[in-house]
Amino acid sequence: MERSGSPPGAAVTVRDATPADVDALVAMLVEVAGEGRWIGVEAPVDVDRRRQRMAADVEAEDAIVLVAEAGGEPVGQLGLRLAPYGVADLGMLVAAGWRGRGVGAALLAEAVRRAREAGAHKIALQVWPHNAAAIALYERFGFRREGYLRRHYRRRSGELWDAVMMGLPLD
Ligand SMILES: CC(C)(COP(=O)(O)OP(=O)(O)OC[C@H]1O[C@@H](n2cnc3c(N)ncnc32)[C@H](O)[C@@H]1OP(=O)(O)O)[C@@H](O)C(=O)NCCC(=O)NCCS
Repeated sequence: MERSGSPPGAAVTVRDATPADVDALVAMLVEVAGEGRWIGVEAPVDVDRRRQRMAADVEAEDAIVLVAEAGGEPVGQLGLRLAPYGVADLGMLVAAGWRGRGVGAALLAEAVRRAREAGAHKIALQVWPHNAAAIALYERFGFRREGYLRRHYRRRSGELWDAVMMGLPLD
């Protein structure tokens, strides 16, 4: 799906999220949750609770929230939670109309830099086994598969989904 009014080659910039971004970032999360097959969050999303959590993360010392912008609008987001034992847990998403144009790679490159700067020795994440685009992106950045969780996450449909654990050592 192309977004009208935004050129396909619009330059992508990545910056820290601010409290002013919270509503737009949660709206993007709601959209991607509505796709039903890429992220852990499922519809219907408790928007008020998500806004509170996002607002807290944006200000938190142990979290980094990055926003990717193109043509002046937010088109992607990435969160890192810094555990006291040195691992940065990563979650990310790109708006459907902007995928496949380097937004994810731009977010991930900055996340690796920032995790290192924050003193993390490793980035860790979980991804659904069917999410080929995400796994390819992570592998391109050097993440390796470290584990496999079988029938681990109960979805609202009642299905139990597997998850791949991936890690990128930074030391
Ligand atoms: C996964 C996701 C973040 C990737 O972001 P993106 O902006 O589309 O990724 P990029 O355009 O930067 O792609 C970078 C690399 O990822 C891989 N990739 C991206 N899309 C791909 C696809 N559809 N199939 C295979 N590989 C793909 C390629 O290696 C690509 O490198 P290349 O352009 O040199 O071929 C995006 O698809 C997304 O938000 N999906 C929905 C939410 C989600 O899955 N979040 C991750 C949950 S773990």
